Amino acid sequence: MSTQGEMRTVTTAVVRDMKKKGEKITMLTAYDFSMAAVMDEIGIDMILVGDSLGMVVLGHNSTLPVTMEDMIHHTKAVTRATKRIMVIADMPFMSYQASLDDAVMNAGRLLKEAGAQGIKLEGGEEIAEKVRRISAAGIPVMGHLGLTPQSVHQFGGYKVQGKQSDAAQKMINDAKILEKSGAFSVVLECIPAELGREISESLAIPTIGIGAGPDCDGQVLVVHDMLGMYEKFTPKFVKKYANLNSEMKNAFKGYIDEVKSGVFPGPEHSFK
Ligand code: KIV
Repeated sequence: MSTQGEMRTVTTAVVRDMKKKGEKITMLTAYDFSMAAVMDEIGIDMILVGDSLGMVVLGHNSTLPVTMEDMIHHTKAVTRATKRIMVIADMPFMSYQASLDDAVMNAGRLLKEAGAQGIKLEGGEEIAEKVRRISAAGIPVMGHLGLTPQSVHQFGGYKVQGKQSDAAQKMINDAKILEKSGAFSVVLECIPAELGREISESLAIPTIGIGAGPDCDGQVLVVHDMLGMYEKFTPKFVKKYANLNSEMKNAFKGYIDEVKSGVFPGPEHSFK
């Protein structure tokens, strides 16, 4: 278990090196102690405490209602559980959009109060100065391009981005600007695989794809999606590695049956 500020095995230099060597980077989201501990143990490279928290844990319809307090609370649980893995915390909607000072101070809180090793924020050229200032404060910054969920109302829904050549060109340009501004990595979400490849090849920093094809330098999935726990909506880019929803239903049903029939608790679960 971790103490705050302690050095992790996976660092920005390590993931950059993995890209150089062509070794794929694995990232999953996590929001609590138990799940994060398993990921740390099993060899996942990075955890994203994503603002997807708002949807898969807190039950909102989008990521927009997530607050800094929500992010700090859940990031603390994740960093307490981990010591090897690099933990990146999402900056929630309106924690960095309004001003440069907000951006730097809130990014700092995620490291100082919650123990994260880096932050992620959404956008390209329009947030370049914020990326530069946060990085200059010694905080590793992960960018996020493509389908950036905090702009869902501007996009008019959760749609594939960068299909038209001008939008694709702008995304390539945005990715280069993020790199120049000091980002150590960029998430590419829900874009054509070909564009994912082109952006990955044009950057020295690693790209982490989610619905961005197989040629990104790493992949990320929302853990509730890949474990089959979130039934409300499953994007096309999700692969379910388990179906915990039906496992949970079986377990809960077994518990109901055994409590009702008096089978549980048995003598082995009782004190003399
Ligand atoms: O919030 C989140 O989980 C994310 C991933 C989908 C990349 O931003």
